[in-house]
Order: sequence, then structure tokens, then C-alpha cells
Amino acid sequence: MEKFLEVLPSKQNLIEKALAVVVPKIQVAIQERDVCTIALAGGSTPKPLYEALSQQNLPWSKIHVFWGDERYVAATSPESNQKMAVEAWLSRVEFPTANLHPIPTGANNPEIDAKSYEDELRRVFEVEQPRFDLILLGIGSDGHTASLFPHTDALKVRDRLVTVGSKDGRPRLTFTVSLINYARCVIFLVAGADKRHALDQVLAASADAMTYPSRLIQPQEGELWMLLDEAAGAEIRVAS
Ligand code: 6PG
Repeated sequence: MEKFLEVLPSKQNLIEKALAVVVPKIQVAIQERDVCTIALAGGSTPKPLYEALSQQNLPWSKIHVFWGDERYVAATSPESNQKMAVEAWLSRVEFPTANLHPIPTGANNPEIDAKSYEDELRRVFEVEQPRFDLILLGIGSDGHTASLFPHTDALKVRDRLVTVGSKDGRPRLTFTVSLINYARCVIFLVAGADKRHALDQVLAASADAMTYPSRLIQPQEGELWMLLDEAAGAEIRVAS
């Protein structure tokens, strides 16, 4: 695993850096395999990155977009990660509908929708164990990532691609640790002082991964990028 960590002076600088990493990764994937597969993070941090991506001139028909997790709500809900990314980016460019793979939440049964999404992943990748070119992630102030929340059963699932997470008793659908760790490149985008404590624990030499699940993200055959703003990463010193 190749690790990269950078603390940027502001959130704007963080987004600019993220764009400078993501765009070439997309271009190289397309050069090498004629397709780029990317899984998006939800929450609020990545929204300006998605807005910046909508201004790029990329071969959208060669990019397949998935989501690393989703709240178990309708796609029209203001809580929907799909809705946020569609509004910030995907509806603003000529993205083929066939290339957008939102997580289904309509079965009124999270397990059924999780299995459906697993089937979709295997259909698109045409392999049993999909390897994403790029997976974007955030970190919560409790140290969670995707919908892999502290001390939940989802953290232990290794024989699935997608599983059911839980936040405050409400279901979410999430990539599993094993699917994320098989990616070629995983990029964490972390901004805000409220993330500082969790980040310190995630990056500490030792801390409990069940308490700080982002520690479980270790793409052994890939790259791990930690892009932080000063507010979140003030205590983190890049190894010189
Ligand atoms: C979600 C995200 C989640 C998010 C973190 C950080 O569904 O909310 O996937 O894992 O990345 O909670 O969220 P913010 O970017 O809003 O701080």
C-alpha cells in the first residue's frame, strides 16, 4: 500500500488538491482500461469537489459512477447521497444514464437492496470481486467512513461487497471494508475541526479500529490518500 497524506491550508485548497488528484486518476484509468469506475462519498465535504468535476471536460461515457454508501431513503430525499451528487455534478454534464449506478433503496428491505446492488456491481464489472479505480470517502466525527459505524456488525462483514450499516438504529447501505480495500485508489477528504479528534485516532500508531472504523481502510494493493484541511489536520504532522 502506497500512502499519501497532505494537510491543506483551507477547505478550498483541499478541494483544489482533490481535483488535481482525481482528474488524472480518471484519465489514467481510461487510458489503461478504456473505463474508469469511481464510487462517491456522501455527506457534505465532497459536494464542492463534485461541483468542480462538473466543470471538467472528461469523456463521461467512459466513466461509471457508483456510491460507496447510501442512507435508506428515497432518491428524492434531501438526505440522499445520490441526490447530492446528481445535483452537484451528474445532472450538469452529459452523463449516460447507463453509467450511473445509484444504490437502490426501494425494496422496503435493506438486505434485498444490498443484494441488488451487489448484483449490479458484478454485472457491470463482470467479475465476482470488483476492483474500483477510485473510491472517495469521508470521515465522520465519530471515526466512521461510508456507513461503517463504530461497533456495528457491518465492520465484520468480509464475504460481501455491500452490506447493511446502521446509524442510530436507522439502516444504511454500504460498501464493505473488503470491497473498499480492493480498490486501486482510496481518497479520504476530511475537513473541519470537528473531525480532528477522530482523525488523530484514525492515524494514530495504535487505536481500536472497531471504535474508529476508518482505520480498517487499508487498500493493500492500492493507494491511500488522506487529504485534510488545516482545521481537521492541525495535529497531524506529515512525516518529513
Ligand atoms: C454519508 C457519508 C459519510 C460521510 C461522513 C462525513 O452517507 O454521510 O458517506 O460517511 O462521508 O459522515 O460527512 P461530512 O462530509 O458531511 O462531514
